[in-house]
Amino acid sequence: MTVKEFKTPISGKSVFIGPDSKEDIIILAIESSCDETACAIVKNGREVLSNVVASQIKTHQKFGGVVPEVAAREHLEAINLVIKEAFDQSGLKPSDITAIAATAGPGLVGSLLVGLNAAKALAITYDKPFIGVNHLNAHVCANYIDTNLEPPMIALLISGGHTQIIKVKSYLEQEIIGETIDDATGEAYDKVARLLGLPYPGGLNLDRMAPSGNPKAFALPQAKVQGKYDFSFSGLKTAVLNLTRKLEKEQGAVPKEDVAASFQECITATLFKKTLKAAEDYGIKQIVLGGGVAANSEIRKKFFSLQDKGYKIFAPAMKYCTDNAAMIASSAYFLANTMDSIDVEVFSRC
Ligand code: KG4
Ligand code: ZN
Repeated sequence: MTVKEFKTPISGKSVFIGPDSKEDIIILAIESSCDETACAIVKNGREVLSNVVASQIKTHQKFGGVVPEVAAREHLEAINLVIKEAFDQSGLKPSDITAIAATAGPGLVGSLLVGLNAAKALAITYDKPFIGVNHLNAHVCANYIDTNLEPPMIALLISGGHTQIIKVKSYLEQEIIGETIDDATGEAYDKVARLLGLPYPGGLNLDRMAPSGNPKAFALPQAKVQGKYDFSFSGLKTAVLNLTRKLEKEQGAVPKEDVAASFQECITATLFKKTLKAAEDYGIKQIVLGGGVAANSEIRKKFFSLQDKGYKIFAPAMKYCTDNAAMIASSAYFLANTMDSIDVEVFSRC
């Protein structure tokens, strides 16, 4: 049975949460780990009743990346507004909510504190159980939204800060079987995009540019790493840097589209190959994508082509790939690595 007993913080009343709970469970969740202030209300882990995201992209664009102190201040300004908007959009009152969840980490500590403390304040005010959520597990759980997906599955988590292959044995068990030993996929995208002069956040802009280039124009290296399902992208980033310098020197200009396409081909081929190998090795026929880079058109194309080979492929809708609070609510409901004490503290790394 996947159900767990939680206590409300004031009266100590028992509340049972999980996919095997007999009652409908409505969770309000807050996400503030990086540069999005988000609040969502989700029923039974899959049905989104409201989903509000206040993005700080415009602010950070000026700096070419996220500035932690600025991010924390912007979260403070936005947090009450996104909570109010999430209630308004859903038409629900605080008394309709079963539990309150928030991202506890990993992420920027100053940013996390804003969302976590707001959620704790709501939990205490309305005497609702509080559920701390791991942001990475939540990116995987985004796949439960609007689907009837059930484990087991192999998940490829590709975000700005992480790259992992996860074996999801059950709702409760997510086991990391491979990860990057240096740069994350989104980080590699953002750094190469910056080299090509594309504005922050670079991943999406590089994805938009790549289809007008030739993916075979330049052969870029796929790093050899010891772990069967591990990745390394820092060498690829350096190879692109050296390539652009050489092209500039020899030709006076960089064919940006061709470099973007060749980089995208190289990195997506590695991600595809290793994830498929994990699925084959474990005999699991379901593969799910998660994290901001799961919005990438080439990655989605490569993985969805596996449907012709008998695989079931899931990728969250675009708005649930990048940071959002609906996935936090879903993760709280499915109890994926959740923390149930009101004393949970924020953490920057796993
Ligand atoms: O999951 P996310 O929103 O935040 C983290 O938890 O890190 O991921 C953000 C990352 C950024 O590096 C961004 O450039 C990348 O996802 N990204 C993309 C695309 N959309 C967002 N990368 C490649 N192609 C995209 N379409
Ligand atoms: Zn994220």
